[in-house]
Amino acid sequence: MKNEPENQRTTHHEEARHQVMKKTADTDIQEIQRKTIEVYSKMLEQANRNAEEKIKALSLLRQLGDSLLCAQDLKKICKVILEVIVGEFDAKNCCLMLLDKKKNELKVYAAMSQMEEGVKYFDDSDEILFSLDESIASLASSQKQSILLPATEKDDRFIPRPGGHVVRSILCVPLIVKGDVLGVINLSSPVPETLSEKDERVMKIVSDQAALAIENSLLIRDRVRSERMSAIGNMAATIIHDIKNPMGIIQGYSEIMAEPDTSLEEREEYAQVIKNEIGRFVAMTEELLEFARGGESRLNIEAVTVSDFIKSITPFLERDFAEKNIVLETFLEYNPTIDIDFQKFQRVLFNIAGNAREAMPEGGKLTIRSFREGEKVALSIHDTGIGIPGNLVKKIFSPFVTHGKAKGTGLGLAIVKKIVEDHKGNIAVTSEEGSGTEFTIKLNARA
Ligand SMILES: Nc1ncnc2c1ncn2[C@@H]1O[C@H](COP(=O)(O)OP(=O)(O)OP(=O)(O)O)[C@@H](O)[C@H]1O
Ligand SMILES: [Mg+2]
Repeated sequence: MKNEPENQRTTHHEEARHQVMKKTADTDIQEIQRKTIEVYSKMLEQANRNAEEKIKALSLLRQLGDSLLCAQDLKKICKVILEVIVGEFDAKNCCLMLLDKKKNELKVYAAMSQMEEGVKYFDDSDEILFSLDESIASLASSQKQSILLPATEKDDRFIPRPGGHVVRSILCVPLIVKGDVLGVINLSSPVPETLSEKDERVMKIVSDQAALAIENSLLIRDRVRSERMSAIGNMAATIIHDIKNPMGIIQGYSEIMAEPDTSLEEREEYAQVIKNEIGRFVAMTEELLEFARGGESRLNIEAVTVSDFIKSITPFLERDFAEKNIVLETFLEYNPTIDIDFQKFQRVLFNIAGNAREAMPEGGKLTIRSFREGEKVALSIHDTGIGIPGNLVKKIFSPFVTHGKAKGTGLGLAIVKKIVEDHKGNIAVTSEEGSGTEFTIKLNARA
């Protein structure tokens, strides 16, 4: 080496330096590569987890989507939400609370548990109440933010409810629409560390959808309620108007009864008239209450012949029609026994006859017929009144359809149809403007 020329020595030196540098660079590159791979794999892992979470959220949304879009009924909506949550999350218990804004209280509306079948509703009971300063749910509601306690024993915000489920892991997600809290969905498990931040993120997406559906159904419910309330007001007005008839009759007959020369037989007869009119009055008010409750109506079925039934209403109709110059005719061609709720069916005829009376302001004729229609008996009620305009005929059995009356609620025929259908019968109408209208009811007859 010593004898090497200067320039050759330099070359070797550079080569060696090059080698060292190359080696260093190789290790650097390896290191960089290793680190890059590590970063990538972490990113991939994260992306994977994100994708998994997104897929879960999407699958939940898909499960919720259609059912929530179609459902308007609050119970159905809560059922869909709770079933999806209990099926997809590791929560043993899940409940949906609604905020009573007036009382500032969260109230459990529906609950579901992995241990029990089906959803339980607490709509009208005050059984389970959470006062707003006590529970995690209330905190989530007041802070308008979801709260996750993976392990409740490590968090002093959690106060166990005596007698309640064992709760070691809890997630409360508020239901918010346009900044307004509607309620809270509460997921809990008796095992610590069951509910995670991932669950919290997915649940936020679920709760957004749920809140929209719930708000929608609450709006519809409120609208129906207020429509029903104003309808009840109107209906009360017509009923009060209708009550004047029986009241007038009761007053008239009781005055005659008070006269000293009224015979015992007459008194008995008038007492019966009064009793019947009171019955009619009670039936009217009951109908109003039933509608106000909006529930299923119960039938009080009894067996009666068509002719006995018609005879029970004709005296009332004659009295109501007398001063209106309306003649009443009945033709009972077929007289089988029918199973009906007597009072309700009287209301059917009174409603139809009441409309007929209003359609014949100048007087006319009302004809009631009974005839055979295959296995059934048909009752037709025909008037010679103004008739129903063509475009209205199809709609008259729908609630709130009224035409040409200052005080009509449009409920009379809707109630008629409901009563007839509750009896497994049907009702149809034909009408000609200017000449008259006929309603035909078909009912099962006893063989
Ligand atoms: N016999 C009839 N002749 C002509 N129009 C009728 C007859 N029966 C019903 N209608 C029409 O159908 C509409 C609906 O009748 P419906 O009894 O349901 O309601 P309404 O009589 O208006 O109110 P209410 O609830 O007080 O009975 C009436 O407003 C009227 O225009
Ligand atoms: Mg009517």
